[in-house]
Amino acid sequence: MPSLHVLFLLITTMTVSYLPNPSISDTESFIYGGCSQMKYAPSSPYESNLNSLLTSLVNSATFSSYNNFTITSPQDGSSAPVYGLFQCRGDLSSPDCSRCVSRAVSQLGVLCNGASGGAIQLQGCLIKYDNSTFLGVEDKTVVLKKCGVGTPEYDSDMVARRDAVLAGLASGGGQYRVGGSGRVQGISQCVGDLSAGECQDCVSEAVSGLRAICGTSVSGDMFLVKCYVRYTATGVLDNYSHNYSDHSNSDDGERAFAITIGLIAGVAVLVVFLAFLRKAFETKGK
Ligand SMILES: *[C@@H]1O[C@H](CO)[C@@H](O)[C@H](O)[C@H]1NC(C)=O
Ligand SMILES: *[C@@H]1O[C@H](CO)[C@@H](O)[C@H](O)[C@H]1NC(C)=O
Ligand SMILES: *[C@@H]1O[C@H](CO)[C@@H](O)[C@H](O)[C@H]1NC(C)=O
Ligand SMILES: *[C@@H]1O[C@H](CO)[C@@H](O)[C@H](O)[C@H]1NC(C)=O
Repeated sequence: MPSLHVLFLLITTMTVSYLPNPSISDTESFIYGGCSQMKYAPSSPYESNLNSLLTSLVNSATFSSYNNFTITSPQDGSSAPVYGLFQCRGDLSSPDCSRCVSRAVSQLGVLCNGASGGAIQLQGCLIKYDNSTFLGVEDKTVVLKKCGVGTPEYDSDMVARRDAVLAGLASGGGQYRVGGSGRVQGISQCVGDLSAGECQDCVSEAVSGLRAICGTSVSGDMFLVKCYVRYTATGVLDNYSHNYSDHSNSDDGERAFAITIGLIAGVAVLVVFLAFLRKAFETKGK
């Protein structure tokens, strides 16, 4: 397979837009990503279905925090279906969700170039696609688990609060849950294709996992395929500092925010442009 073949970008379009705010919102920093080993054939029906899927994800994220798609090409006998979904974190505004999904699609294009399946989790959103269906399937496989540093001395207050917060998340309801006790904060998020019962089960499993591995740690993250649970006593959720981001600083300190998504550039540009206008107005208003 030619290495220059670019998956999501038959054409590479580079769009640079300058955001007045020097810091990219934390909802867009990278947590994990992964791709299947299998590659699809370039210019295949699967490739065009995948491009349609990614466009659909970006479009849909402008008005919804979760959606799933199954794309088939009826004109082709083999049809080569692709399945995909996105899930934004429950507290994200519609514009933030939309920005996050656009960014995830653009990063996934680089990360999973040519792969028949892939997933990427940013702070604020998850997107996932594959050529076999995973929609509506509860999957509690651990994707990422990480504990922060342990408290230097056994901090029984922190541990008790952490355990209470986790218990609250495990027994709470809804796809997105938050809890807090003192300086300990916790959140959990299920993917929207899980039923209430499946979400409950998934969150409970993630909570048990955190209790088992994170001892006295000041923070912990447990990402399963269809849900995650995170807690922190430090006031910030961890980043995993992978350098996938395609932004850079320009001389005047503004952020160059580059999006490279050939086929969906139109949509992405619009989204970024609207965000830019919004930020520009906000800045003016201050
Ligand atoms: C994570 O990254 C974002 C942006 O890159 C930054 O604003 C935030 O402070 C970082 N959080 C941590 C815990 O380092
Ligand atoms: C997914 O794609 C791979 C690689 O093209 C292929 O081997 C596999 O059979 C496909 N799976 C399904 C369910 O179509
Ligand atoms: C997928 O989306 C369709 C239409 O939006 C919806 O009816 C269906 O319940 C969804 N399936 C899952 C597994 O979420
Ligand atoms: C990530 O980028 C920072 C600067 O932005 C650099 O210091 C660091 O070495 C990079 N890490 C990797 C793994 O490339």
